[in-house]
Amino acid sequence: MLSATPFRASWPRAMRFSTSSGTVTLWMRALIAAAQAIEHYEITRYGTLLAWAKQLRLSEAEGLLQETLVEEENADEVLSELAEDAINPAAAA
Ligand SMILES: [Fe+2]
Repeated sequence: MLSATPFRASWPRAMRFSTSSGTVTLWMRALIAAAQAIEHYEITRYGTLLAWAKQLRLSEAEGLLQETLVEEENADEVLSELAEDAINPAAAA
């Protein structure tokens, strides 16, 4: 059975990045990137659905889709800030 702890202890120094809030590993950076890719996909889908709702004059759906689109854009912004902190430790100081 695989254990994460010994593997983590053996991570090369190049895979660890120190920031003001602690150590960020390459795995954390990969998770942030994957989460951001999902947000980008959601933004494209909700953007398309919002355009369709406008064309079809579905005002109730338009309002809900606009609200959801803003939530997805905000999540993307938070992930961008995390990624920038992870990539540029000086910016996080
Ligand atoms: Fe999302």
